[in-house]
Amino acid sequence: MTRRAYPPRAVVTEVGPRDGLQNEKEVVPTEAKAAFVEGLAEAGLPEIEVSSFVSPKWVPQLGDAEELFRRLRPHPRTVFSALVPNERGMERALACGVRKVAVFTAATESFSRRNTNASVEETLERFRPVLAAARAAGVAVRGYLSTAFGCPFEGPVDPAAAARVARELLDLGCDEVSVGDTIGVATPGRVREGLDALREAGVPADRTVLHFHDTRGTALANVLASLVEGYASFDSSAGGVGGCPYAPGAGGNLATEDLLFLLEGLGVETGVDLEKVRNASRGIEAALGRQLPGKVFRAGPAPWAPVR
Ligand code: HMG
Ligand code: MG
Repeated sequence: MTRRAYPPRAVVTEVGPRDGLQNEKEVVPTEAKAAFVEGLAEAGLPEIEVSSFVSPKWVPQLGDAEELFRRLRPHPRTVFSALVPNERGMERALACGVRKVAVFTAATESFSRRNTNASVEETLERFRPVLAAARAAGVAVRGYLSTAFGCPFEGPVDPAAAARVARELLDLGCDEVSVGDTIGVATPGRVREGLDALREAGVPADRTVLHFHDTRGTALANVLASLVEGYASFDSSAGGVGGCPYAPGAGGNLATEDLLFLLEGLGVETGVDLEKVRNASRGIEAALGRQLPGKVFRAGPAPWAPVR
């Protein structure tokens, strides 16, 4: 029997402190956020999206971004990144010494408007000075493409149209593009179509990150479909905390522990310690005062699996 070859290694980007906590009703104290991020860094995650330098009127939950960055100790193995929507956000990020930022747009106009009060074209224009400042400062840039698989306002999304915007993000100077299933409607066949369209548009697999939300329980299946196609970079959120306040019906991100359990089972190396991620999730669960949904977070790895 021939076995399917999976990539030998995968990159896991932790987005819980940003994508997760932006969607919580409660504003988590900065100290608890800092402990969460520190715990995740100790687990060996190569990148943690710590917060957003967006308008605090739009996302009050992350209004303490400066204070949070001030509290973090440097971790040699971990990049602490942040979302920036415009030049003002970039100035704030640079003042905090941030070494990687993420700009964000969407595949659909309605979502872009609700999320950033701007058309897709206008968001791309806003990014030009952000990217110029990043280049001058040697800061890496991720470009997010939301609603790549479906939109809460416009319904199904044409894969080729989404891929064109992804390509524009790279053309503007983004180092990588994170392709978002913002409302968790993708299934593996649709993911394959999306990946085909991205390749046809000239978006290489090694500059593509997949950002799955697990709203309908298909995120892990979508990861597997992506691995089979040779994609090896995924966003996830510890404990499954997360969502998006401007996307009605958006559930949490794929849980980091669930992703790690799948990857470990397939023999795909990540360098991340699953038990330490669970510890960090326990801390933020206590701070939030509500049960987090991540399955492997709750159940633990199989009793006979090596606990690393
Ligand atoms: P606006 O209201 O059109 O812009 O917002 P504005 O320039 O008129 O500014 C309004 C106020 O915000 C002003 O203050 C500005 O100074 C201030 P006022 O004069 O009223 O006192 N302001 C700022 N303050 C701090 N930092 C800044 C900043 N910029 C303006 N950077 C804006 C436009 C883009 C700012 C706003 O729409 C915004 O902040 N949106 C962010 C929304 C957001 O964070 N959404 C969630 C992230 S995206 C996501 O979750 C999807 C993702 O996970 C992938 C996926 O799942 O699909 C990434
Ligand atoms: Mg998201």
